[in-house]
Amino acid sequence: MKIKERVLGRILRWWGPRGGLAQFRRPTGVVGHVVGWIMGGRSSNVARNRWAVRLLDVQPTDRVIELGCGPGVAIAALATRASRGLVVGVDHSQVMIRQAGRRNRTAIRTGRVRLVHTSVESLSISDGPFDAALAVNTAGMWPDPAARLRELARLLRPGGRIALVSQPRCPGATAATSAVAAHELASQLAEAGFERLRTEMLDLDPPVACVIGHVAPAAEPGTRPAARL
Ligand SMILES: C[S@@+](CC[C@H](N)C(=O)[O-])C[C@H]1O[C@@H](n2cnc3c(N)ncnc32)[C@H](O)[C@@H]1O
Repeated sequence: MKIKERVLGRILRWWGPRGGLAQFRRPTGVVGHVVGWIMGGRSSNVARNRWAVRLLDVQPTDRVIELGCGPGVAIAALATRASRGLVVGVDHSQVMIRQAGRRNRTAIRTGRVRLVHTSVESLSISDGPFDAALAVNTAGMWPDPAARLRELARLLRPGGRIALVSQPRCPGATAATSAVAAHELASQLAEAGFERLRTEMLDLDPPVACVIGHVAPAAEPGTRPAARL
């Protein structure tokens, strides 16, 4: 396992700056298939996704949406937890939707997982409401992430939660780079109106940042919002 990790790490370090990173933004064709295979099999990626799913605290009847689901590693972990709910995976790469489909064949057959080939920017409010949303190493790839997060806040029910995850992949990234990434995610969530923000770090190299935020709960009937001073 360690040898496979080292080989994959070397391939990515060589290939990333030579155009490989574009394939992680939207895997296509045969190369995209290999990229999906790497993401689905690399133990650090699997650990990162499973850790994020644990932090999202998914309940058995939850409806959850994953943005940029890639080969469907987190979808599988989400579906195990939302055993009586629904998990919707969204990706703009047809190759990734196919791989996620193969990885989650049984849950799709039983109606617990639905995969949608579309972009995050094409989601509409009628797709919701969801109890929780997850995005692992993808929010930085979206056009106008702040606008996307405002839309996602409307797709979630009052009190619903979101987890945004980032492990910086730039050459020479350190714990300081991850701290900056965490701060950026938190600022974007706060700007989009999410509340009760919490940051968690996973000790990989470099560390993985996960920021969790909540949509404001519904106002109690008969109560008025506090006056702004
Ligand atoms: C680095 S991969 C991460 C995949 C998966 N979340 C994981 O951690 O294994 C980024 C994924 O986000 C998808 N993606 C990027 N921008 C997107 C967008 N605007 N709409 C939908 N999917 C997007 C890509 O196709 C790719 O599958």
